[in-house]
Amino acid sequence: MIELCFVCLGNICRSPTAEGVMLHLLDEKGISDKFVVDSAGTAAYHIGNRADARSALAASRRGVELPSRARQFKAVDYGRFDYVLAMDETNFENLRALDPINAEGKLFLLRDFDPGSPKGSSVPDPYYGGAAGFEEVLDLCFAGCQGLLDHILSRHQLQDR
Ligand code: 4NP
Repeated sequence: MIELCFVCLGNICRSPTAEGVMLHLLDEKGISDKFVVDSAGTAAYHIGNRADARSALAASRRGVELPSRARQFKAVDYGRFDYVLAMDETNFENLRALDPINAEGKLFLLRDFDPGSPKGSSVPDPYYGGAAGFEEVLDLCFAGCQGLLDHILSRHQLQDR
């Protein structure tokens, strides 16, 4: 099993979107049974909440479901996950500060797996903006998750079905 956790600030917009997009890509490839996909937030504001309605609506229009319930990422999660994918630079720094030793080799910026994005790029926070921001999050999650999946498939010698 390969275990992935996408992490943003609130765990109601960006990381649930990335989680849903990755589940969708794995389902399309018929390899969902090789993966555990989760998401979390660095903050505790929204624990227990479903994805933001604006994220869920934008995702559903592309055939993507967002099953997450918000939770906060804990240092102990580094023991479980193979890849921890930060959505932005601030999330990345907060995640590293939680456990710098165990973050090493597991913590990445999601967009660093997108060959079309400059190194160090973030998925912008859409929470206080309009509908276009939620579409952009979806575009960036599709590109980042596809790149991440390509990386994992080659690195772990998994075959598409
Ligand atoms: P997310 O977006 O980190 O993509 O889930 C946010 C959600 C909530 C807040 C900020 C960002 N908030 O301040 O409550």
